[in-house]
Amino acid sequence: MRLQYTLKGIEATNVLGNCLSMVLEPGDLFLLSGDLGAGKTSLAKAIASGLGIEEREVTSPSFTIIHEHMNGRLPLIHVDLYRLGPHADITEIGLEDYLDGENIVIIEWAEYLKDTLVETALKIDLSFVDEQSREVCMTGKTGIWRERLLVVDDCMKAYNERLNRKE
Ligand SMILES: Nc1ncnc2c1ncn2[C@@H]1O[C@H](COP(=O)(O)OP(=O)(O)OP(=O)(O)O)[C@@H](O)[C@H]1O
Ligand SMILES: [Mg+2]
Repeated sequence: MRLQYTLKGIEATNVLGNCLSMVLEPGDLFLLSGDLGAGKTSLAKAIASGLGIEEREVTSPSFTIIHEHMNGRLPLIHVDLYRLGPHADITEIGLEDYLDGENIVIIEWAEYLKDTLVETALKIDLSFVDEQSREVCMTGKTGIWRERLLVVDDCMKAYNERLNRKE
C-alpha cells in the first residue's frame, strides 16, 4: 500500500505528522529517507507533537544519535543516522532494545542502515521539490498498514479540501 502527496509548505508536513500520529500503535517503526533538508526532522517533530510531546524536545539529534521521549501518549524514540554514514549497524548503535513492540521508533536517514529492518515498517521517502514544497511517498505492507493509511488519506483529503475552499 502506497500513499503519495505534494506537501506545500511546512504546514502540510505538520498536518501529515498529525494525521500519522492519530493511527500510531505501540511498536510502530518509521523509516525516513530522502534528500538533505527534505523535511525528515520536521515530520518527526510533527508526529511527536501529535503524541503530546513538546516540540522543543524534538530537535535533530546532531550529537546523540538516539533521543528518547517518554512523556507523550506513547514512548517515542527518534534516531538520526546521518553522522554514522552508510552501513550503520543496528546492534552497534543499540537500537534493537528499542524495537520491542512498545516504542514508536522513527529513524532518519534509514537508507544508511546496513540491515533491512522489520518488514512491518512504514517507509517514508521525502524529496525536495522546490523551496516551498516537498514530495512524500509512504509505503507499508498492505496487511499491516492498509486500514491505517486509508485513515491518513482521509485526514489529508480533509486538509486539502479545507485549503482549496480557502483559496
Ligand atoms: N513541506 C515543506 N514545504 C516547505 N518547506 C518545508 C517543508 N517541510 C519542511 N520544510 C523546511 O525544510 C527545512 C529542512 O527541514 P528538516 O530539517 O526537517 O529536513 P531534514 O530532512 O531533517 O534535513 P537533514 O537531512 O539535514 O536532517 C526546514 O526549514 C523546514 O521548515
Ligand atoms: Mg534532519
